[in-house]
Amino acid sequence: MNRSFLFLLGSSRSDGNTEALARRAAEQLPADVEQRWLSLADHPLPDFEDLRHDTDHVRPTGNNAALLLDATLAATDIVIASPLYWYSVSASVKRYLDHWSGWLRTPGLDFKDTLAGRTLWGVTVLAAPEQAYADPLVGTLSNSAAYMEMRFGGVLLGNGSKPGDVLNDTDALTRAKTFFGQEFRP
Ligand SMILES: Cc1cc2nc3c(=O)[nH]c(=O)nc-3n(C[C@H](O)[C@H](O)[C@H](O)COP(=O)(O)O)c2cc1C
Repeated sequence: MNRSFLFLLGSSRSDGNTEALARRAAEQLPADVEQRWLSLADHPLPDFEDLRHDTDHVRPTGNNAALLLDATLAATDIVIASPLYWYSVSASVKRYLDHWSGWLRTPGLDFKDTLAGRTLWGVTVLAAPEQAYADPLVGTLSNSAAYMEMRFGGVLLGNGSKPGDVLNDTDALTRAKTFFGQEFRP
């Protein structure tokens, strides 16, 4: 299966550090690897409503949930590009992951079987110099990947506060060059 990367941008501002770092990593992907970039701020999901034990979730149509669901099912690689907000993922990313719980219970989707074996990646930028502050975000993504029986590609971390700061984090830019791995080298 050809690789197809879905980059989900979780910042509440455009052109922020997290997107800049994700784009540096994505530059290294070969041209024949499809890239799709979607901003969760531009495609807001409604608050998740837990209907799991009540009534069946139905497949969304014609809205942002449908767009994000279809994009998720089509991707071999899902890259969560979330700034660190309060030590974890941003609210829009958390809401997107909450919707996975509904999609897991939506008849006819085979959401879990479709995602199993695919890869979940993370990119994050935080203001604090200590990377350990991002441990809860790393745990959220790695545990979610394990639950879904997905591969976990790891989290690319950068440092910065105002937009553009991360471009001064030379260690992060170096890590970005190899983040998506040896597997794409000829
Ligand atoms: C709501 C909010 C919560 C934040 N929480 C943290 C945090 O817990 N730890 C931290 O180091 N930086 C925190 N920051 C700073 C951002 O992670 C930092 O500014 C980052 O560069 C933002 O990424 P962006 O430019 O992609 O939006 C927070 C910023 C906001 C707006």
